[in-house]
Amino acid sequence: MNSTDQPNLNDFHTVLQDRHAVRVYDPSVKISREELRELIELATSAPSSSNLQPWRFLIIDEPDLKQKLLPITNNQQQVVNSAAIIAVLSDLRSFEQADTIYSQTVKLGVMTEEIKKTNLERIQKNYGDIGPERLHQINLFDAGLVSMQLMLLAKSRGYDTVPMGGYNPELFAEVFEIPETLKPTILIALGKAAKPAHPSPRLSVDDITYWNSFNK
Ligand SMILES: Cc1cc2nc3c(=O)[nH]c(=O)nc-3n(C[C@H](O)[C@H](O)[C@H](O)COP(=O)(O)O)c2cc1C
Repeated sequence: MNSTDQPNLNDFHTVLQDRHAVRVYDPSVKISREELRELIELATSAPSSSNLQPWRFLIIDEPDLKQKLLPITNNQQQVVNSAAIIAVLSDLRSFEQADTIYSQTVKLGVMTEEIKKTNLERIQKNYGDIGPERLHQINLFDAGLVSMQLMLLAKSRGYDTVPMGGYNPELFAEVFEIPETLKPTILIALGKAAKPAHPSPRLSVDDITYWNSFNK
């Protein structure tokens, strides 16, 4: 089921070091929906604020729909050459799933009904009443975490990815008829590299890290 010549699944360092933004893909490589589902399932082990899991995914793997997406992404060719585009969406109604999620937590025996009730009241107050903009801001953090897991997981199976913020989210929502309560965050192209990513530098640890205070 996995693609061939995958790096050692157990070598996390190799996966971290080998993941780079790939922009040229082998268009003949397809990824089955079964494997895509598996990637989503594993990626959603990511942590999220109050475990609300506010991420939703629109997977675009049909060639004509990828063509439709192309101009919305400034004609980034990975949109049509990769196997699938995974749009990570932020659900502005995620708190409505709290009962379902917390009921499972009770079933697992790690929370009492009473604590669940208190938590649901807190969630309604902290998420349900704060308005869509602040909620989207919270969701963006969680969307970033699940996206990173997805990209590393893909790399561990010999696939490549590129996260794409360079697109028109309003037009995307309109053309793909995304419900009002789901806000696009990032698009992730997923496939197999036809050309390796170019190396990308990083700032040094000393440039970005402070110890205890900002007085050097
Ligand atoms: C939020 C975000 C948006 C990005 N948008 C794009 C994009 O639209 N197109 C693209 O080719 N790369 C995009 N990238 C990829 C970055 O350019 C790339 O991750 C960065 O240069 C570091 O390179 P590396 O990922 O190969 O290590 C984006 C990355 C992030 C995190």
